[in-house]
Amino acid sequence: MNKLDTVLVTAALSKAGFELADGVKEADVVLINTCSVREHAEQRVLSHLGHLKHIKESQPELIVGVIGCMAQRLGEKLLAHETVDIVCGPAQIPQIVRLVNEVLDGQKATAAVTEKIREKTSAEQNRALDDFESVFDTDKTISAQAYVRVMYGCDNFCTYCIVPYVRGPEISRSPKVIIDQIERLAGKGVKQVTLLGQRVNAYKYTAGEKTYCLADLLYLASRVNGIEWIRFVTSYPSTEFFDEILKAMADLPKVCNYLHMPAQSGSDKILAAMNRHYTAGQYLKMLARAREVVPDIALSGDFMVGFPGETEEDFQQTVDMVRKARYKNCFVFKYSPRPGTSADKRMQDDVPQEVKKRRNIELLAVQEKISDELSRQFLGKEVEVLVEGLSRKPHLRSSKDDSNPQLIGRTAEDYIVVFNGPESLAGEFAKVKITKTTALTLFGELL
Ligand code: 5AD
Ligand code: SF4
Repeated sequence: MNKLDTVLVTAALSKAGFELADGVKEADVVLINTCSVREHAEQRVLSHLGHLKHIKESQPELIVGVIGCMAQRLGEKLLAHETVDIVCGPAQIPQIVRLVNEVLDGQKATAAVTEKIREKTSAEQNRALDDFESVFDTDKTISAQAYVRVMYGCDNFCTYCIVPYVRGPEISRSPKVIIDQIERLAGKGVKQVTLLGQRVNAYKYTAGEKTYCLADLLYLASRVNGIEWIRFVTSYPSTEFFDEILKAMADLPKVCNYLHMPAQSGSDKILAAMNRHYTAGQYLKMLARAREVVPDIALSGDFMVGFPGETEEDFQQTVDMVRKARYKNCFVFKYSPRPGTSADKRMQDDVPQEVKKRRNIELLAVQEKISDELSRQFLGKEVEVLVEGLSRKPHLRSSKDDSNPQLIGRTAEDYIVVFNGPESLAGEFAKVKITKTTALTLFGELL
């Protein structure tokens, strides 16, 4: 969601005549897009602001804006920070050009945030957001991949989670608006779209007699010429529409066989305290069902360690779940209390930091072994990848072809593939033969 917001804000400002600067020193305006999901992310923003304060001493004209979830969460309080000139919440990003121009014109900054974040937005506001979403189509630097938001907000209220309080209630966009947008993106050369929602599988839109679910969107998007791969994130473990989505995945060659479905914990006691509405057994059954309907599906998950009340036994149940789930990869986070959430209000953050750290490392080690085993299965095989571009990290040379730079791409199952090839392959599909693997990366040679 943040990445999409960044793309949209960049496109809107470019359209208004602004240009992307190479760095802070060359910039007139710095916008920091922020995440509130864990305290660490917010602390990093505060330290960036501290750094910008020094820069402003020699560049007093520099304008600094904070956009996104942290802007929504802190609102006016951020304006108290002497460095900050603009505060703009996620629902206000359609106003970003006006906000920047006002400050450039010397007007005093105000915080543009939603006052009653849990109130349903008006039809007018939704239209403004829908329209803003399409500025994207005018972006000159558009790549082969694009994110398409299919819904806003979240209504699940997991007890640890800040999202419902900063991104507001769940609202699904109309299938027509979404498909029109995908068609325009395809017309610009986009080959892969990733449909976005905090609980993307809860997508529901009623038009006349028909209620559309995510599976319907997958069928509609598959019909768009030029779009080759379709992904969607993030799936919440719920059986509602689950079979329909799996069947669409099995049926539609364009829909990538990849499912990111966070479990958060393997302990039923912790899952209940998190308000997750499923048990470990039900979750594992869903994974089994996914593998039955889509045999070569790749699965990934998120876990949280150190949630209030998590005992060693609860944690071992999480380890057990990771062993059974056999994810391609999973993300592990240490619980971080977020102000205003019910876990923060009602529960003690009683797992010591060192214990959270140890559990985090232990869980990742269990997963690494599984990832390594799954990656190895690709040795000697040919895979199709959508090339993203130059590999940013210098990996070990994967091929003898030293005349070409190292490229990075992904398979439909979301495996990362590194190989040498001409830079002109960025945004194209390529066939690669895998010659070496690590837990998280496949290395190979371009065919
Ligand atoms: N502390 C730690 N991790 C969190 N996540 C969400 N809220 C918190 C929190 N308060 C994690 C969840 C979610 C991922 C995006 O971030 O695992 O799936
Ligand atoms: Fe947060 Fe839960 Fe909604 Fe995901 S489903 S955004 S974890 S409240």
